[in-house]
Amino acid sequence: MCGIIGYIGKKDSLPIILEGMRRLEYRGYDSAGVALVTDKGLTVFKKAGKLSELVNLIGVNGFRSNLGIGHTRWATHGEPTDQNAHPHCDCANEIAIIHNGIIENYLTLKRKLQADGHTIRTVTDTEVLAHLIEEMYKHSGDLFTAVRKALLKVEGAYGILVVSTREPDKIIAARNGSPLVIGVGEGENLIASDASALIDHTRRVVYLEDGEVACLSAESFSTKTIHDEEIIKEVEEITFDLEQIEKGGFEHFMLKEIHEQPESIYNSLRGRLQVDQGTAKLGGLEPVLAKLLAAPRIIITACGTSWHAALAGKYMLEQLARIPVEVDYASEFRYRNPIIRPDDVMFLISQSGETADTLAALREGRAKGATVLGIVNVVGSTLARETDAGVYIHAGPEIGVASTKAFTSQIAVLSLITLLLARHRGLSAEQGRLLASDLMSIPAKVSKVLEISPHIRAIAEEFKHVRNFLYLGRGSNFPTALEGALKLKEISYIHAEGYPAAEMKHGPIALIDEDMPVVFIVPKDAIYDKVVSNMQEVRARKGRIIAIANEDDKEIDALAEYVIRVPRTYNFFGPIVNSIPLQLLAYYMALARGADVDQPRNLAKSVTVE
Ligand code: G6P
Repeated sequence: MCGIIGYIGKKDSLPIILEGMRRLEYRGYDSAGVALVTDKGLTVFKKAGKLSELVNLIGVNGFRSNLGIGHTRWATHGEPTDQNAHPHCDCANEIAIIHNGIIENYLTLKRKLQADGHTIRTVTDTEVLAHLIEEMYKHSGDLFTAVRKALLKVEGAYGILVVSTREPDKIIAARNGSPLVIGVGEGENLIASDASALIDHTRRVVYLEDGEVACLSAESFSTKTIHDEEIIKEVEEITFDLEQIEKGGFEHFMLKEIHEQPESIYNSLRGRLQVDQGTAKLGGLEPVLAKLLAAPRIIITACGTSWHAALAGKYMLEQLARIPVEVDYASEFRYRNPIIRPDDVMFLISQSGETADTLAALREGRAKGATVLGIVNVVGSTLARETDAGVYIHAGPEIGVASTKAFTSQIAVLSLITLLLARHRGLSAEQGRLLASDLMSIPAKVSKVLEISPHIRAIAEEFKHVRNFLYLGRGSNFPTALEGALKLKEISYIHAEGYPAAEMKHGPIALIDEDMPVVFIVPKDAIYDKVVSNMQEVRARKGRIIAIANEDDKEIDALAEYVIRVPRTYNFFGPIVNSIPLQLLAYYMALARGADVDQPRNLAKSVTVE
């Protein structure tokens, strides 16, 4: 996620800002920039790539500034280029803004501003905001009011800092969804997206809440709501260290990312899911929608966890949109001389957008004439650039090697694609609305599952010495079983296999005895009774059952030794909610066994070699 830092005081702001940005590097970024207010006006430097490249660009300069802002960008709208990097300025180059978040209605705002004569130079949502503030400034002549009034017109999430040469003694900040924290100093004030960038200067902080706007000067700060009501904020003392701050107070990035899922899933759906119309709007697919609807089949290729998301996508796309879907490992697809028909459409799913086998599959599909589409997290990655079109999952940077939030966001995006195609292929508006509102309820359901972490941790403690695990599920929860087993293997080094529950009797049943824990994913769906029969088979052989079951399932306690309860979700979206306890189980197993969760042995976050 983007990093934000601002400084106002008596010191030279540039070194303070660059050091703050270095502290924020851990959040993940692809470009960086600073804006300094000097007596000569606004000085802006921005550069794609690492912070060191920005430092080289700035070089040795002779000016001093007591007021500046800096930003590390993780691209959402527009590729990570020099031009798209923040800060962004208004037409007159008097206002500079940095932004973390997504402005959903930026296209509407952009058209209006262009009609009013503004020249908008980049494709970013953030630049639109700079011009909107410029427009508001014309009426109010006051930066604080201009920012506040501009934000009243904005839909979306933001944490922003704004500076202007017209009022060179202040930083305006506002928050809605993206955190900002003020660092209260002596004759200086700072503000950042998290406290890691501040604690070298002060441990006295003020956390902004959603809907709040702040004005910082060197000597003081004030806060109001976006609706102009005064608010008095309390200054708090930070007691935790840098490492704790970076991990958001969690012990590992993986756990932090597991807990981010209510938000990351919502970010995947935000502005796209149209609950009232019972459909989804995916701007990235609009140019290829006709091709997608005419396609005789869809081929999805990916690797690892992304492949499991692909498989979950097959279940929903075939059942709801009635399009045949083939799912293939990218590494297999690339070498098996696949048969591609002219109208075939391929989706390639990748968190990083850099996985070597997935890129090779993309090039193979394209060479054979398929339309190639991406479902990608990292904006501007190779896969995003080389595909004909696609959808970003907007999960934010994933640092933990074992993928968690990218998986659930990939399935959320596949759900949106399914809904969109299904509605075009005969699903009624009423059914569409039911599905859309179920999807919208998923972030809250994920939050509920996260609350039972202590129960899952206790189960992990109980099983930490076992050597093998079996994960079983049917239908759309077969991919959930595969993903649960993969998570356990990856970080706890326990041998685990995922299987379709009924397939167990064709082999894995031979493994079952009193030492074999079996995780069943058994939601109350149309094949519930079938899975229960499979559970009986395990019980008859003294296997130890852990069931992921629905909250209202009364029968399950008689069958399972441990039950992890999850809220009911529409069948095909189930893997999103049902995979959360499996992520937590794997995490706590690894923790109990003393494994290094964020640096699992032999694994890489991004596999850029064959
Ligand atoms: C590596 C990672 C996995 C990931 C896979 C595919 O193996 O450790 O977590 O699922 O690559 O990565 P991608 O970036 O293409 O989704």
